[in-house]
Formats: sequence, structure tokens, C-alpha cells
Amino acid sequence: MPVALITGASRGLGLAIARALAARGWSLVADARREDDLADALRGLPDVVAIAGDVTSPRHRADLAAAVSRLGRLDVLVNNASSLGPSPLPPLRRYDLGDLRRVYETNVLAPLALIQLLTGWLETAGGAVINVSSDAAVEAYPGWGGYGSSKAALDQLTAVLAAEESGLRCYAFDPGDMRTDMHQLAFPGEDISDRPEPASVVPALLRLVDERPPSGRYRAADLTVPAPVEVGS
Ligand SMILES: NC(=O)c1ccc[n+]([C@@H]2O[C@H](COP(=O)([O-])OP(=O)(O)OC[C@H]3O[C@@H](n4cnc5c(N)ncnc54)[C@H](OP(=O)(O)O)[C@@H]3O)[C@@H](O)[C@H]2O)c1
Repeated sequence: MPVALITGASRGLGLAIARALAARGWSLVADARREDDLADALRGLPDVVAIAGDVTSPRHRADLAAAVSRLGRLDVLVNNASSLGPSPLPPLRRYDLGDLRRVYETNVLAPLALIQLLTGWLETAGGAVINVSSDAAVEAYPGWGGYGSSKAALDQLTAVLAAEESGLRCYAFDPGDMRTDMHQLAFPGEDISDRPEPASVVPALLRLVDERPPSGRYRAADLTVPAPVEVGS
């Protein structure tokens, strides 16, 4: 049975991915910081090792790696947990450097640390790393300099990893806007009900899992299969 490790699986995109892979019979290792939320979210999924903790903690990452070792296999690592940074989003001239450091710890260093711990397992399985990126990595939106530059660093780290590790597929996956807590934090007070649910981008991510295209940066919108056009009546 294939195994995935998904960070940030208590809500939003991470939970939608966990549900989709569990429905296909995958075993999961999953985390989030708030233990009760994680347990509530994953209750009912058949084969999940849920470990509450912060991806920036070396000890928590070691616990995740130990869970993978017990399962004896890892096919996909989804680095999904992420920090937006302060809300409202501050311009760079006023960005607190302590806040920026925490954004980078979560969005860049923690994903790399997990990759370092788990590359051996992924290689054995002919596996894939999926680092969840953002359009803010490639577009210059005012206010998005902290989060966006962290995702740009994650993108480049993904690209170099792909060049170094011929035995792995390495993907930066840009899901596009989704109706989640993080998105609401980015647009405080705004009505975000027109944004798509995170489950709507999961089929795009599953194409990376199933088809294993060449390593690279993929936008969900480009992976989404258009609905068949009905001809005639
Ligand atoms: N929503 C969008 O429009 C959008 C657009 C582009 C890219 N993205 C990316 O998509 C991914 C998922 O975002 P989302 O919108 O689904 O976010 P979300 O709804 O806020 O969920 C984030 C998940 O990550 C967990 N988490 C956050 N910080 C963590 C940490 N330090 N350690 C462990 N778990 C942590 C959260 O649980 P706890 O708080 O309990 O830890 C939660 O389970 C992120 O990488 C984000 O950058 C989102």
C-alpha cells in the first residue's frame, strides 16, 4: 500500500489531499500544530498516523520520520504546511525581520529538512516530493514580499533538488486561490466565498502522483482536465 506524508493536514488543501489519498487506499502520516483539530479532521480516515506538532521543530520532524520508518515506505512527501506571515500583509519596508524569519523557517527550511530526512525512503520507492507553492512566488503583489519570496525560495529549492536527485520526481505545485483560513487571513474582512474549495484542485495534484510528469513547477489550472464538451443534443 503506498504511503504519503502530508504536512498541514487538519484543514484546507492538506485535508483535501489526505481525504483523496485515503479514499484510494493510501496509508498516511499527517501533521498540524493543533492536536484536537488534527484528530477531528482525520477521524474516520482508515489508515492515518496523526502526529501533532510544528514543522519548524526538529524533534517533531524526527517523529514524522520515525513514523515513516515504522511503515517502511514513503511514496509521496507533500510539504503543504505554510505560514502567510503577519495579517494584514505588511509592505517590505516595514516587515518585521523576526516575522520574516519565522515565515522562512516554516515555508523553506522545514520542507528542506523533511526532504533531507526522507529522501532515502522516497528514492527506494521511486517517489515524489510535492512542495506546495503559490502564484506569489512568481508575481510581485504589494504586501506579498515575505510569503512570496519564501515560496520563490521553495520553488528554486525544488528545481535544484530535481537537478541533483535523478531518482526522485520533484514538483512545485501552485494550487491557485482557494477558500481557506490562510486565504481569509490574506484578505481580512473580505468576502472570499467566490474562491474555489481546496478539494477542487486535488485532481490536478493527483495527476502529478499518478502520471509522474518530469520534475518542475506546475499550476493546478494547467493540470486540470477540462470537462468534456457535449456534442449535439
Ligand atoms: N489558500 C490559498 O488561496 C492558497 C493559494 C496559493 C498557495 N497556497 C498554499 O497552499 C497550502 C495550503 O494552504 P491552505 O490555504 O490550505 O492553508 P490553511 O487552510 O491555513 O491550512 C494550513 C494547514 O497547515 C497547518 N500548519 C500551519 N502551520 C504549520 C506548522 N508550522 N506546522 C505544522 N502544521 C502547520 C494548519 O494547522 P495548524 O494551524 O493547527 O498548525 C493547517 O492544517 C500552503 O502551502 C499555502 O501556502 C494557498
